[in-house]
Amino acid sequence: MNRPATMDDADRSQRSARTPGAGRASSLLRVVGLRKSYSTPQGPVAVLKGVDLSLDVGASLALMGESGSGKSTLLHLVGGLDDAEQGDIFVDGFEVTRLSDFGRAALRRETLGVVFQQFNLIASLTIRANVAFQARLAGRLDPVWQEELIHRLGLEKLLERYPEQLSGGQQQRAAIARALAARPRLLLADEPTGNLDEATADDFMALALDVVAATGCAFLMVTHSERQAAKLQRQVRLSAGTIEQP
Ligand SMILES: Nc1ncnc2c1ncn2[C@@H]1O[C@H](COP(=O)(O)OP(=O)(O)OP(=O)(O)O)[C@@H](O)[C@H]1O
Ligand SMILES: [Mg+2]
Repeated sequence: MNRPATMDDADRSQRSARTPGAGRASSLLRVVGLRKSYSTPQGPVAVLKGVDLSLDVGASLALMGESGSGKSTLLHLVGGLDDAEQGDIFVDGFEVTRLSDFGRAALRRETLGVVFQQFNLIASLTIRANVAFQARLAGRLDPVWQEELIHRLGLEKLLERYPEQLSGGQQQRAAIARALAARPRLLLADEPTGNLDEATADDFMALALDVVAATGCAFLMVTHSERQAAKLQRQVRLSAGTIEQP
């Protein structure tokens, strides 16, 4: 019988990748000595040169840093969307760096909510279907919660449209709703307020912080806005390939 793969499948198929003792007990995310280079026509360019980071259950962290400093690169690695060169990433006890593609997909579906810098909405689906997409896959579709997200992000009139029929800020709001609809354990957001006016950005921040408080999820947000960063518990800066400690 066909049934959606679950995190249990990923766990069973790769039990060795799950090492709960590897992080501190309450640590939902732990990044240790992470290195990543890209090859370019001019040769390899080191972007992350030994990044260490940890985030406890219920904690929130703003990741800042100049354009090109590697913030999106770090988020992609944590989300299992790219391969690290060296170092370890633990998410909820799973060693992301040792999971197969299947295990990473299960981790993204079951545990993570990701708001990408480029939104990554599915072009062939309406906004309504996009918002429901991950929650449906994870078997956690909650119509009441979904309606609340749609209302709080002002998406009511956009639900039957397709992503290309939306402005950048509208797409960003839909991407935020999709990430929150499945109530992730770890919310990763890459400049989620970058295309929003200040009032909508404030609404998103209030919503995200409500979700963090209500569900105990951890929240890692990339931002260039000091004003939004200040709303999170901790702020760190990525610079010269490492995390500058305040
Ligand atoms: N696929 C790639 N191939 C080669 N170089 C890349 C690739 N992706 C990113 N880079 C380079 O890696 C560096 C870090 O990029 P990244 O997107 O992580 O920066 P960022 O901190 O998110 O910047 P921004 O604030 O502008 O979004 C940049 O110098 C970028 O040019
Ligand atoms: Mg970026």
